[in-house]
Amino acid sequence: MLKILFIGDVVGQPGCEFLRRHLPSVKRLTGADIVIVNGENSAVGNGILPSSANFLLDSGADIVTTGNHVFKRREIYDYLEETPQVIRPANFPASAPGKGYYLYDGGSYTLCVINMMGVTYMEPLNNPFYEIDRILAEVEATYYFVDFHAEATGEKKAFGCYLDGRVSCVVGTHTHVQTADEQILPKGTGFISDAGMTGPAYSALGVNPQNVIDRYLSAMPTRFEVQDIDCQMNGVVVEIGKKTGKCNKIERINIK
Ligand SMILES: [Fe+2]
Ligand SMILES: [Fe+2]
Repeated sequence: MLKILFIGDVVGQPGCEFLRRHLPSVKRLTGADIVIVNGENSAVGNGILPSSANFLLDSGADIVTTGNHVFKRREIYDYLEETPQVIRPANFPASAPGKGYYLYDGGSYTLCVINMMGVTYMEPLNNPFYEIDRILAEVEATYYFVDFHAEATGEKKAFGCYLDGRVSCVVGTHTHVQTADEQILPKGTGFISDAGMTGPAYSALGVNPQNVIDRYLSAMPTRFEVQDIDCQMNGVVVEIGKKTGKCNKIERINIK
């Protein structure tokens, strides 16, 4: 059995530090073989920086996925080219820095981790359905794991069902709210609409609620701050049958 621990969007320095404090024990307790962390909001001031990506890798992440905030900071462009285990959504134009998947070598197996972005209520990128077909045809791996970074639950579920039996697991990210719909689809693909968020528990998706309230009240841009207060760590643990590649179990985790 292969156990994958996936951690939802890590927000700012408080999220990064909370992850560093708790990831080793969660990994030990769950018996995870591989840790995948969504780091699209890990930098102070949003986006992802080489320093925040390195912080996640040094904290125990084997692979870092991202999303719509991946290119907010210029400093990450070269880093993505040089650090293949930090990936960006695959359906950006081919000219975008970095790669949309990473082939993890587990010795006796390979795990292809694919990052893809939804297009409903998001930037109009390449169609994720055709793009994932292209990657699955192109990349040979023992197992496939997908981080589908998307807004609409309907698109996420449709994407999961589209990939049922073709990948081991589809985990949604981006909304920063953990959903309670973890399930194994009929042909053996593990699925959850959203893994949730790692960062300040009393917040609006990680941000100081007052900043967001002010934006709604004034309809003016406001500065978003991530407060250094009590945090949570959201994610899922997924068990994959070594022979079948099917998901045997998917379980939510919520550390406070
Ligand atoms: Fe995010
Ligand atoms: Fe996002």
